[in-house]
Order: sequence, then structure tokens, then C-alpha cells
Amino acid sequence: MLTGIVSDHGGFALKEEIKKHFPDINWKDYGCFSEESVDYPDMAKYLAKGILSNEISRGIAICGTGIGISIALNRFNHIRAALCHDIVTAEMARKHNDANILSIGGRILDNEKAFAIISTFFTTEFEGGRHQRRVEKLETMG
Ligand code: RB5
Repeated sequence: MLTGIVSDHGGFALKEEIKKHFPDINWKDYGCFSEESVDYPDMAKYLAKGILSNEISRGIAICGTGIGISIALNRFNHIRAALCHDIVTAEMARKHNDANILSIGGRILDNEKAFAIISTFFTTEFEGGRHQRRVEKLETMG
């Protein structure tokens, strides 16, 4: 299965480093493809469409802070984008929230910290149980 990755210009440099650092992951790169300015809601939409069409099952979204692109992604049904700044939040985003998208800030994290967060996010399973009910409620929010 492909793993999606997307960024705006504020996350472009980190996106490229991530692909190099994790060459064994089959990436589907939804852009952007240079440091030319783009709008994070547009970039979020490309990744969201990838999830909604089942082209990808999980993804990484990067803007300058990770904030704008996570806000945009969470406006789509079935998307659970978690903005994570460290290993603990990445672990909890999977265990309790079954997040399908990791959002990070390209101007916030250094490469090594971002790589550690990504490794944690992609190797941590959802715990289910009482969290399953809560995640299901997210699907009926309106
Ligand atoms: C773009 O300059 C910047 O605003 C964007 O990358 C992001 O940080 C927004 O939340």
C-alpha cells in the first residue's frame, strides 16, 4: 500500500528529507514540488482525496507549523490528522485516536526529531477498546 506525503512550501525541504530517509516506504508524493509558495488548503485536499479514494491508507502532511494543513485535513470526513511535536504525541495519536495522517511542522522540527516521530507513528497500533467507540463518534459529527 502506498503512503501519502504532501507539503506546502514551508514543509517542502523536510518532505524531501523524509523520502530520502525512508526509502523502503512506497511514497505517493502529492506535492508541492518546489519552494514556490502554494496554499496549504489546496495541498491538504490532494492528500485527503488520496485517502478517500483508497489510493493511500495513511499519510504525512507538512506545512510550516503543521497547524494549517492539519486544520484543513480535518475538515474532510474519515480523516483523522494529528499534529504531533514529539514521540509521545505521535504514539498517542495512533494508540487512542487511530490517526491516519501525521501532521508535522517543517519549520518546527529538525530532521532527526521528525524521523523519530514518523517511525513511532508508523509502528504504533491503535488500541481499540473504549477508543474505538470514540473514534466511531467522530464519523457522525455532522
Ligand atoms: C506558510 O508561510 C505558512 O503559513 C504555512 O506553512 C503554515 O505554517 C500554516 O499553518
